[in-house]
Parts: sequence; structure tokens; C-alpha cells
Amino acid sequence: MRTKGPSGTASMVTLIRALAHGGLTHVRDFQDPTAFVLLTARGRMLCRYLLWRARKPGFRQSLLAGKSGLGTDLVPLRTRVLDDAWHAAQAKGTRQLVLLGAGLDGRAYRLEDIGESNVFEVDHPATQGLKRQRAAKLASLANNHLFVPVDFERDSLSNALEAAGQRMDLPTFWIWEGVTPYLTRRAQEVTLAAMAERSSAGSRVAMTYTQPPAPGDKAKSMRQTMKLVRFLGEPFLGLLTRAEAEELLRNAGFRILEDTGVEDWRQRYADSSSRASVVYQQRIAVAEKADLVSGRLPKKESPRLVRARALPQPVTSSAAAAAAAGRPRRGRGAPGPPWPPAPCTPRAPSGGRRAGSRPGPWPSAPWSAWPPSPPAGR
Ligand SMILES: C[S@@+](CC[C@H](N)C(=O)[O-])C[C@H]1O[C@@H](n2cnc3c(N)ncnc32)[C@H](O)[C@@H]1O
Repeated sequence: MRTKGPSGTASMVTLIRALAHGGLTHVRDFQDPTAFVLLTARGRMLCRYLLWRARKPGFRQSLLAGKSGLGTDLVPLRTRVLDDAWHAAQAKGTRQLVLLGAGLDGRAYRLEDIGESNVFEVDHPATQGLKRQRAAKLASLANNHLFVPVDFERDSLSNALEAAGQRMDLPTFWIWEGVTPYLTRRAQEVTLAAMAERSSAGSRVAMTYTQPPAPGDKAKSMRQTMKLVRFLGEPFLGLLTRAEAEELLRNAGFRILEDTGVEDWRQRYADSSSRASVVYQQRIAVAEKADLVSGRLPKKESPRLVRARALPQPVTSSAAAAAAAGRPRRGRGAPGPPWPPAPCTPRAPSGGRRAGSRPGPWPSAPWSAWPPSPPAGR
């Protein structure tokens, strides 16, 4: 990726989540009130403008269907799949969540079952600067929340996580959402090797990957997306076929639990009118550190240690690392702005923590700043 400024694709997918939170999606019950808050001022303006224009059925339809690029179903769909994969891991006792290439991901500020867990947000330093600035408006729900700057193409993920206090002896859930297409194959392999090294038995990775267009594939939207990401300075470098993705995971020591595509997600989470599956070849592989799947304990581990590991434990070293870096310790009990933040559109609340969200500001006059610049935070 271009290293001078924050990632434009991170802003783009966050804009899509903000639009979906505003009701512009076929994905049922999709809620992400953090997305609008995490956008730059320009992104928020664009979000309001698009929601305002989407009152017209034709324009709404073109945004939903992806005629103008990505569509507004794919990102919320994958976000829901990954959230549910986290919920499953959390229910099994996992208390460490690592967000790789976190971008403007709001999980640490919105997942209701994150309170006992330590969250490590790993991203390119250029993007993480923007994230920290925008996230100052939100209160983390995590037990401990740390920012770990890493360039996957150059830096050692393992060393950075060690310094931040991520524990190799506790199960970790790794979310690698929307990142692998932007990395070289070498960076994908090195990152997975570091994840495997730092994963105790029972750790899981949920990784999205994007398949190359099949020869002769006329899917226009995929090609438009490839043009758009190139324009944003983040060309696709690491498209993967299903076989290649599974091989990467297996070679790193992970056993595939499931590998699903947009059609599967659509059936699980979307109205039948969703067309996301037609236009974009993205998949999610969920895999587990092989030791546990095979039923074998790693060498030198006693059953007592395994039992002890299942208990949530304070991560003192990460708190120390945060203090050493001059970062405020964020988490439950830490002072912060009121929760939940206002969503970006008047939308009927539908239960859960976010049910009390207030309607957000709404454009009242014809928009003066059209056409808006791309939503990236530059
Ligand atoms: C499309 S965004 C996805 C962000 C987030 N995971 C989400 O789904 O909202 C791609 C992310 O990958 C990160 N990324 C790309 N190349 C990277 C690299 N070499 N090192 C670290 N992060 C990188 C970008 O900074 C950006 O946050």
C-alpha cells in the first residue's frame, strides 16, 4: 500500500458500513454505529449525502446492487460472518482478539462480549494514526485495548505483539478482514507464520481473501473495484484461489474449519434481493491451530496448564507496555464519551445495545460540495 497517508480502502469499507448502518443494505439487522464516528469529516459528509440521495429508488438501487463499484452488501455481510466467528470463539473461552490490518474497524467499541478480552489492533502506522485520532471519540469496551503499529511487508509481527503483551500461552482469535488482497504472497506467508507461532492450541484465524476473476469472467464490478483500489494507491497484490488460501493456512499449521463464500453469507444474513454474490468473489476461511483439532496437546503442556489457560487472566505486560508508550489504558471503567454514539441517519432502532441510538444529523439543503472527493482521509 501507499505508505504516505492512511489507507483509502479502510475509509471506503467504513463508509460502506456507515451506509449499511443507515439502512442502505439488504443485510438483516446490520448495526455498526461506530462506523460513522470513525470516518473522517469528508467521509461523514459523503455518507450523509449518499443516504440523502438514496431516498430516490433508482440511486438507492444502484448503490445496493454495486453498479457503481462494490455495492453495500458485501462488507456488512463479511463483518457479520466475522463477528459471529468471534462470538463462537469467545463462547469457547478465547479472551484475546487480534485485528490484523484493523483500519477503522469498530469491534473494540461495539462488540458486547468483548469486555473480558484484550484487543490488539495491528495496522500500518500511517492508517493507525488516523484510527487513534478518530477513535478518541469512542470508549473501548475491551478489558485492555492496545494499538500495535506494524507494516506486514517489513516489520516483525511477532516481536511487535510480544512487546504489546499478546500472550502465546492463551488462545487468540485473529481477524484478518479485507487485508490479504493488498499484501504480497511473501507478506501473507510471513504474517501467517507469526500468527501460528503466537497461537496456542485452540486459537483460530478468520481470514477474508479475494479470488482472481476467472478467465473470461465478465463481472464488471470486480474489475471496477480493481481500478478503484489501484486509484487509491492500494492495488491488489495477493489475490488467492480457494486452493491457494487453504494451502497457505495449512502450511502455517492451521486446519480449515470452514471456507464460505458470499452466497453462503447471503443465505444466512441477507434478504433474498441481495445481489452481492453475483459481483464479487470474496471468501472467508476460518481455521484452527492444528494441535487442538487433532486432539494432541503440544509438547511440554500439562493438563493443569491447559486448564489454567482457559481462565481469563490479567495481561499485565500489555498494560505496562501501554504505560511505557504513554498510552492511556482503555477499557471498562476508563472514562470516555457516552455510548452509544449517534448513528448517521434516522433509522428505526432494532434492539440490542444500540437500541437507544439517537437519530443523527440529516442534510437539510441541496448539497453544496458535489462531487465530493474520494472518502479517504487525505
Ligand atoms: C480494506 S482495509 C480493511 C480494514 C479493516 N480490516 C476493515 O475491514 O474495515 C485494508 C487494511 O489493510 C491495511 N494494510 C494494507 N497493507 C498493509 C501493510 N503492508 N501493513 C499493515 N497493514 C496494511 C491497511 O492499512 C488497511 O487498514
